[in-house]
Amino acid sequence: MALVDSKKMFEMAYKNGYAIGGFNVNNMEITQGIVSAIAEEKAPLILQISRGARKYASMSYLRAIIDVAVAENPDIPIVMHLDHGDTFESCKQCVDDGFTSVMIDASKQPFEENIEVTKKVVEYAHANGVVVEAELGQLGGIEEDVVGVSTNDIHKHLTDPDQAVEFVEKTGCDSLAVACGTSHGAYKFKTEPKLAFDVIQRVAEMLPEFPLVMHGSSSVLKEFKDLINKYGGDMPDAMGVPEDAISQAAKMAVCKVNIDTDLRMALTAKIRQVFAEKPAEFDPRKYLGPGREAIKDMVAHKLHILGCAGKAAECMHSN
Ligand code: 13P
Repeated sequence: MALVDSKKMFEMAYKNGYAIGGFNVNNMEITQGIVSAIAEEKAPLILQISRGARKYASMSYLRAIIDVAVAENPDIPIVMHLDHGDTFESCKQCVDDGFTSVMIDASKQPFEENIEVTKKVVEYAHANGVVVEAELGQLGGIEEDVVGVSTNDIHKHLTDPDQAVEFVEKTGCDSLAVACGTSHGAYKFKTEPKLAFDVIQRVAEMLPEFPLVMHGSSSVLKEFKDLINKYGGDMPDAMGVPEDAISQAAKMAVCKVNIDTDLRMALTAKIRQVFAEKPAEFDPRKYLGPGREAIKDMVAHKLHILGCAGKAAECMHSN
């Protein structure tokens, strides 16, 4: 089966109260870890590629890796999604490269300009059978070259539900990333985690059946944070979104939950552990292998938090 878009996934996720994981991929090991978890758990999958990933690995390598994942898992619907496209041109390039879903993130631009560029991307993408995620409101944190607002200020930049209705109507986007208190990266909160569920609820009431996306949704799992800090790392203040908050959002209108930091931390924790415990080891397979295994176990666990384990079949396209 070929790559699919996310329409059917979001329809089922919305109806049945779960969310699909949008997992970022940068290399073979990360992709294999994620894909072996979804194959075992029979979950639908969105593999997302950022502009940084395209620069790092090159699109032809990433595409070849994803093609193998698709060919080896004919019973699993898989979307190839651009994470945080910043211009019409970058989104167009990805549509032309065979992505089945693209994100245009013009959320830093004034409202009218965000509408204008999003609408242009939607027109091009839809004409080519590709779906579009857009963003309104601003997240905190840093993700590669996407710099958000300071974590102190994120509650000043939450999505305005009234604007969300106008934005979706004017742009025709297929899903909307909402700012609800999360940030990219490993330092999401200074004291206690706090999400604006009222924003999600209000947008959902005003845009019934419209799929929302939650970025910045890694949990910064204690297991990996502790390993990193134990084996020479320095992330004492890292803090993520609690998993019960992720499950709660998934039961609401949030149909896609973005996870990158948890993948990075799983891989880093295991590599650090091998380096510390076996300093004579120099075979990359001996440290990337355990990293890949840790990613697989972590993703399998996440699929249950999101509620999408076992949902691959119902998300398959009928055509
Ligand atoms: P995390 O940094 O929380 O993993 O978020 C990733 C993300 O939102 C990618 O768009």
